[in-house]
Amino acid sequence: MGRIAYVNGRFVPHGEAVVHIEDRGYQFADAVYEVWALFGGKLGDAEGHFVRLERSLSELSMPMPMSRAALTLVMRETVRRNRVRDGMLYMQVGRGVAPRDHAFPKTPVAMSVVMTVSAVDRAASEVRAAKGVGVITTPENRWGRCDIKTVGLLPNALAKQKAREAGAVEAWFVDELGFVTEGASSNAWIVDRDGKLRTRDANANILRGITRRTLMDVIADEGLTLDERPFTPDDAVAAKEAFITGAGTLVLPVVTVDGKPVGDGKVGPVATRLRSLYIERAKATAI
Ligand code: PDD
Repeated sequence: MGRIAYVNGRFVPHGEAVVHIEDRGYQFADAVYEVWALFGGKLGDAEGHFVRLERSLSELSMPMPMSRAALTLVMRETVRRNRVRDGMLYMQVGRGVAPRDHAFPKTPVAMSVVMTVSAVDRAASEVRAAKGVGVITTPENRWGRCDIKTVGLLPNALAKQKAREAGAVEAWFVDELGFVTEGASSNAWIVDRDGKLRTRDANANILRGITRRTLMDVIADEGLTLDERPFTPDDAVAAKEAFITGAGTLVLPVVTVDGKPVGDGKVGPVATRLRSLYIERAKATAI
């Protein structure tokens, strides 16, 4: 059986899933999205992603396209039809289809809702996590509302391509003051020389990652110290460990920054432990 997408009220074969040319998401990036990691066919960190979806929509003066309960039913059905156990569910919600005009449609139109599900090879992800990955840095060039999860991802896509061309897995944006904000599709962390966990504070222009949020609870439960204080790429190289978090990568150790080894250049014990604890918690709480 092939992949199935949900598009505006219908389940359709992935290859035939299309949206209208005047969808405002397509023309203006007037749409938001969410990504849920799937564990055994269930939604990881479900509540957090719903809350952020509602917030992203409300920041753009859009309501939820349907109730959370109805949305959950559609999500579950999309997962079921794809027969995916471990993977990701992508949801995009937009203002809808209207004749091209920058301002919102005068009379509201039906919102666009699209969902796709993809499988992830978790065994291969574990192998990658055990080896660690490289990141590069790139100047921060995004708009001032990175807290809203919009589909306007061109700077992120360009940064990711730059990373790929350098043989790295992620690109970290660096702001005017020289501090790392976050990755193109993940939040950035280090374990500093004092053993403190450092990540950019949520008041900065970053996406408030749901994996980041849950990991903070794990960190507290482990009795580790969290310091929401900015760090530079040099701080990361001088740190004991570094890692990234996100629904796509979960907790993924970083062993080089711009080709320079982080600490001793090996995957460290803190990131490794946090990865396994995060996955344990996400599996236990998935719905
Ligand atoms: N990206 N920062 C950015 C810019 C992101 O795009 C993401 C997630 C994160 C991590 O957020 P979370 O922990 O809630 O997944 C941080 C998703 C996975 C994506 O674009 O595919």
